[in-house]
Amino acid sequence: MQETNIIKSMFDRIVERYDLLNRVLSFGQDVYWRRKMAQFAFSHSKMLILDLATGTGDSAKPLLIKGARVMGVDISFRMLRIAKKKIKGAFIPLSASAYQLPFRNKFFDAVTCAFGIRNMHDTEQVLKEIHRVIKVGGKIIILEFSLPKGFVRAPYLFYLKKIVPFVSSFLSARYAYEYLGSSIESFYPPEEFITLLKNCGFNKIVSKPLSLGCVYLYSGEKVDD
Ligand SMILES: C[S@@+](CC[C@H](N)C(=O)[O-])C[C@H]1O[C@@H](n2cnc3c(N)ncnc32)[C@H](O)[C@@H]1O
Repeated sequence: MQETNIIKSMFDRIVERYDLLNRVLSFGQDVYWRRKMAQFAFSHSKMLILDLATGTGDSAKPLLIKGARVMGVDISFRMLRIAKKKIKGAFIPLSASAYQLPFRNKFFDAVTCAFGIRNMHDTEQVLKEIHRVIKVGGKIIILEFSLPKGFVRAPYLFYLKKIVPFVSSFLSARYAYEYLGSSIESFYPPEEFITLLKNCGFNKIVSKPLSLGCVYLYSGEKVDD
C-alpha cells in the first residue's frame, strides 16, 4: 500500500511533461510500441478492453482507433485527468488500483498494460487479478521495458542511467527518471516473466522483442478458470 502511494505521487508529479519526455527519450518509438500492442490485442470490433495503468491515455488511443471500447484504469488522478481531456470516443477513465479491480469476473475480452506492471510491487497478485477479470478465451497483452542482451546492453545501460536522468532534469523530476532505470534493471527478465504468466494461469504465451530487446511485448490467453 505504501509502495503504491509512493508510485502514485511520483506519477502525479511528472504528469505535465510525461508525454513529451516519452517521445523525446524513446526517439518517438513509444508510439510504435503501443501500436504493436494494439495489433496484438485487437481481434474484433466492439471488443471491451481494460487498459490497465492507462496513464495519459496514449496506450488506449491505438486500441480505440482500431474500434475497441476501452476502460482506462489508473491510480493517478492527475494522469487520468489528462487522459479524459485528450482521448475521445468509446473511452471510460476510472481511478482504481490494479491490486483490486472493481469489475466482476470474466468482464473483459482483453486486458492491456503498457509500461505499468514494472511499477507494481506484487506482480503475481496483479496478474492473478487480471486473470480474474478476463473472459475465458480472452487475452492479456503486456508491454514492458527490458534489458537487451549482447553488444547493445552496455550503451543502453549508459543511456538509461546517465543520459535519461540528465535530460529529464531539465524538463521534469529527475528522481522519477532515475527510478525508471532502476525499475527496469530490477524487473523480471523475459524468460522469468513468461514463467510467471504461466504460473498465474495464462497459456499460449507469445513474447516478442521490440527495438533490439529494449522493450518486450507479451501476450497470453486465459483458456479456463
Ligand atoms: C509509465 S506509466 C504508463 C502509462 C501508459 N500506459 C503509457 O503507455 O504511457 C505507468 C502508469 O501506471 C500507473 N500505476 C502504477 N501503479 C498502479 C497500480 N497499482 N494500479 C493502477 N495503476 C498504476 C501510474 O499511475 C502510471 O500512470
